[in-house]
Amino acid sequence: MDQDRVVRPRLLGIAGSPRRHGNSEILLDLALGAAEGAGASVEKLVLAQLSVMPCRACDVCVSGRCIQRDDMDRLYPLLETVDVLLLATPVHFYGLPALAKALVDRGQLFWHRKYGSGPPGPSHVSPRRGALIAVGATHGKQLFVGTRMTVKNWFDTMDVDYAGELLIRGVDARGAIRDNAEALRDAAALGKALAVPPGKALSTPG
Ligand SMILES: Cc1cc2nc3c(=O)[nH]c(=O)nc-3n(C[C@H](O)[C@H](O)[C@H](O)COP(=O)(O)O)c2cc1C
Repeated sequence: MDQDRVVRPRLLGIAGSPRRHGNSEILLDLALGAAEGAGASVEKLVLAQLSVMPCRACDVCVSGRCIQRDDMDRLYPLLETVDVLLLATPVHFYGLPALAKALVDRGQLFWHRKYGSGPPGPSHVSPRRGALIAVGATHGKQLFVGTRMTVKNWFDTMDVDYAGELLIRGVDARGAIRDNAEALRDAAALGKALAVPPGKALSTPG
C-alpha cells in the first residue's frame, strides 16, 4: 500500500463560477491553502477554464465511458480517485451555474455505475468525503436548498459523504466576500478540517 496516500489525503477543489476570482473562488483558495498547510495534497480545477459540455442523455455511459471527448476525459479519473472533493460555487437562480451543473450531469456515468447498469469503478479503502462552499447575493432561508440537494445527490452517486458546507448569504460584487472576516475564517477552517487523513473522524466547523 502507498503509505503516503494513507496520511496525505488527496483533495480536489473545483471552482464552479463562470466569474474568475470571485467570491466562491476566494473562499475556495483559502480552504485549499489551509488544507495544504494541514498536510493534504491539493489540486484546483477552474471550470471556467475547461470545456465540459452538457450531458446528451444518450446513455452510452452505461458502457462506463462517456461518448463526448472534452475535459471530462481528465476529470473523470480525478473525480473517482481523490479522497476529498470540495466544490465552490455561486448560487445561480437557486441552483448551480451552468458550468457546474454540466459537470454534475456528466456524473450520469457514476449513476449508472452505482445503480447497477454500468461496469464497476475503482474501490476505496476509506469512505470519501466532499464539501460545498456556496455563496449568494440574497438572504432568503431557501437560498441554498436547491444547490445543496443537487450537490448531495452528485456526491452520493460517487460514494462521497457530504461532510461539510459553508454557505454565505449577502455577497454579490466580485470580491465582496473579503469584507466578511467570519466567512474567510470559516473557509480556512473547513479546508483544515477536510485535510484529516482518510478513515479518521472529521470535525467540521460550525
Ligand atoms: C446568472 C446569475 C444568477 C444568480 N442567481 C442568484 C440567485 O438565485 N440568488 C442569489 O442570492 N444570488 C444570485 N446571483 C448572485 C450570485 O450568487 C452572487 O453574485 C455571488 O456572490 C457570485 O459569486 P462568484 O463571485 O463566486 O461568482 C446570481 C448571479 C448570476 C450572474
